[in-house]
Order: sequence, then C-alpha cells, then structure tokens
Amino acid sequence: MSKEDSKSREQFSSKIGVIAAAAGSAIGLGNIWKFPYEAGKNGGAAFIVVYLVAILMIGLPIMISEFVIGRKARANAVGSFKKLAPKTKWHFTGVMGVVSSFMILSFYGVVAGWTLEYVFLGFQNAFKEQTPQDLKATFDAFSTSPSRPLFWQFLFMALTAWIVAAGVKKGIERISKILMPVLLLIIAILCIRSLSLGENIDPTTGQVIGSSMDGLRFLFQPDFSKINANVILSAVGHAFFTLSLGMGTIITYGSYVNKKNNISKTAFQVTFLDTLIALLSGIAIFPAVFYFNVEPDKGPGLVFTILPSIFQQIVGGYFFTLAFFMLLALAALTSSISLLEVAVSYFSEQLKVERKKATLYTALAITLIGVACSLSLGPWSSFTVLGYNIFGIMEYASANVLLPLGGLLIALFIGWFFPRNDFYDELSNSGTLKLASFRLFFFAVKYLAPIAILIIFLYSAGFLKPLLKYLNILL
Ligand code: PFF
Repeated sequence: MSKEDSKSREQFSSKIGVIAAAAGSAIGLGNIWKFPYEAGKNGGAAFIVVYLVAILMIGLPIMISEFVIGRKARANAVGSFKKLAPKTKWHFTGVMGVVSSFMILSFYGVVAGWTLEYVFLGFQNAFKEQTPQDLKATFDAFSTSPSRPLFWQFLFMALTAWIVAAGVKKGIERISKILMPVLLLIIAILCIRSLSLGENIDPTTGQVIGSSMDGLRFLFQPDFSKINANVILSAVGHAFFTLSLGMGTIITYGSYVNKKNNISKTAFQVTFLDTLIALLSGIAIFPAVFYFNVEPDKGPGLVFTILPSIFQQIVGGYFFTLAFFMLLALAALTSSISLLEVAVSYFSEQLKVERKKATLYTALAITLIGVACSLSLGPWSSFTVLGYNIFGIMEYASANVLLPLGGLLIALFIGWFFPRNDFYDELSNSGTLKLASFRLFFFAVKYLAPIAILIIFLYSAGFLKPLLKYLNILL
C-alpha cells in the first residue's frame, strides 16, 4: 500500500471519534428492541448467561480481529481480504457481509420506522391512559397495517441514505456523542421506575396481579434447564448482531481508524458500553412486564407496549416518552448508517460505482426488500417458510446463520492464515503498546471462538444429538 493511499483515506479524527462511531454502530435497536424480546422468548436469565459468555469468548476477540483487518488493509470489507490475502477466496467473507447488510437493514429500517411513528404518537400524547392491553392493540394495528409503517420506513431509509451519500456522518457522530449519554440516563430512570413498581394489587379483589421483583428474577436467576440448541444459537447470534460483528462493519470502520489508536482498548470499551445498555434495557423492561402481568415472550412489540406503560407512571412522562423514542430513532440511525456503509463502500471502491449512485441504488434495493418485510407482518403474513414470515427469515438467517458464519471465517483468517507477528504488530501499534493478555486473546481467536461457533452450528443442525445421547449414557 502506498503512502498516499493511507493518507488520502478519511480517518476518524480522535480516539473518541472511533469509539463514538463503533459504539454508534453497535448500540441500536439490537440493545433496546431485540435484546429484551430475545431474552423474553428464550427463557430470560439462561439466555443472558450464554449471551454474556459469547460476548467475552467470541465477540470481543472477533471485534479486535475485525479492527485489525480493516486498519491494516485500509479498505472495505471485500477489498481488505483482497489486499491481505490476494489470489485467495477469503474475500468471499466480505461478499457474505454485503449480503448480510442487505438482509439486516431491510428489517432494521422497518423497526426504525416504528420508532418514528412512536415519536409522532408520543408528540400527540396518544399513549395517555392506555393500559398495556390498549398499547398492544395500538402496536398490532399499526405494525400490521399495509401502508403506515411503509411511510416511516421510507422516511428513515431516505435519511440514512442521505447521510451516507452526503458524508455528514461526522456531524451525526458529534450529535450522538452528546445524545447517547442522555439515552443512557433515560434508560437508567426507566430502570428505577420499573424496579420500584413493586406489587400490582387488584383494587377490587385485593389479589396480587404481578410483581416487579419477579422480572428481576426472570432476568438474573438462571434456570439452566431452559437452555437448548435454539437458545444457544439465538444468544450467540445476538452477540454478533448487537456488536455489529461478522459482516465487515467493524472492518470497514477499522479502515478509517488512526494508526495510533489502541484497538484492543477501543474494542473493550465499545463492548462494555453495548452490553451495559442491553442489560439496562432488560432491567427497564422486565420488572414492568411482570408487574403488568403480560407474557414476557411477546415478541417484537415488547418495547413498544411496555415502555409507554412505564412512562405513564413517571412525572413528566410525556417528555420522557418523546425524548426516549427520538433517541432510540437516532441510535437506530447511527447503526443503519454503518450497515449501509458496508454495502456502499464495497460497490464504490470495488466495483467503482460512483458513491452517490451506489448509495441511491443500494438504499432503494434494501428498502424494497424492507417493504416485503413490513408487509409480511400484515397482509402477507400467510406466506411462511419453516414457520417464519419474510421479516422472520431475514432476522433469523442474518443473525443466527450469516453473522456467526462470517465471524467463524474472520477468526479462522486471523488465527490460521494471517501471520501472527503481523497481527501482533498491528495490535500493538508496531510494538509501542504493551499487550498484557495477547497470548490469551490469540488463543481465543485461534481456537476458542472457531470451535465454539462450529459446535453451536453442529448442535443446532442436530448433528451432535447422537453424540450427546451417547455421552448421557456414559455419564
Ligand atoms: N448492532 C446494531 C444493533 O444492535 O442495533 C445492529 C447492527 C449494525 C448489526 C451493524 C450489524 C451491523 F453490521
């Protein structure tokens, strides 16, 4: 790579800039919308334990690997592999990432659109005096409608495309650096309110309807009998999704990272913040779920019905509701920008399509797939494959199959193909940083992560059943 090459490439100006951009990508609907409902669907605490182990054992090492690949190669997800492993097939990992970005952003744009509708409804004070049941009815009617969600989805996708095309990402980063701590603060307030709801007693019969403490137990008292292949796969898939891993997003962002940045530290900070926000969202939602005695596995509508219910119990709930959904939309925006960026940087750098055109066409194609996702919740809901509607297929196949597969390839690439010394050199900024746990970390990339992902794939595909039966007999 020539000197000009690395000089002319746009770079993040500061350490905080890198963290803000990567955290902006990581923190989004995955933490506040998907994490609670996945945890609800998959047994609560047991899911969370597997998720946390996956974050540490698989997520963190892969995030560092992606940063290294991107910064070393200074190119998009496909180009990076082409540079570091010329004349090999490794770049298919990047191509798979581009496919994942299409699939994820298609349903992500739909859910982000929902948050805009909730800003709109919040503005009109439409949640006032609605019971959780009313709120569920509101959500169901809206999300299955054939037209209304599309309007918001188009608006959100247009905004995402405009930012990626106009290159005003820096402005967005600056805004989110200020606003994301505000989001954190609101979630913290929600946690306190949700936890302090106490017992819900029916005024006429005197019977206990529900208790917020049960929600805390649901989140943190694991019942390991709930763990099965699907729970493990969902938890690992979610670890990839929430950290934006396995599809080259962090490779792409890594390519803009300054040579002086301490990559492992940045990765650690991003992972920590992301996990913190997810856990706090869980603590905000589940005590209220149990207090109101609604089913915890209610699915994608969970936050849209529970959170407005909690806001009604808070002084100034009107403003909190508005601020919360606005910030959630913004968190979704910084993530969707990174999703679109993966595809656009590939088309513009590798296939030499002009950047603005690449953005326009990519966003249009993704929006079209998104329309199918949105309609599959309403008018097209009878069309299913293996029990999943189009929205479900996009969600399941990307998070639970493509991202872990991409992560597996990235770990194998760094662990087995890329020279260990080059890796050390890049991670330690040519030996200027002291890396205390490099050996442990390298072990995780080389053996732990790939073996864990492989076992999980085999387990969920049913291949390990005979072996497990046999072991059961031995034990
Ligand atoms: N990490 C984002 C979230 O949790 O909302 C979603 C996401 C963004 C996934 C970027 C993958 C990605 F490449």
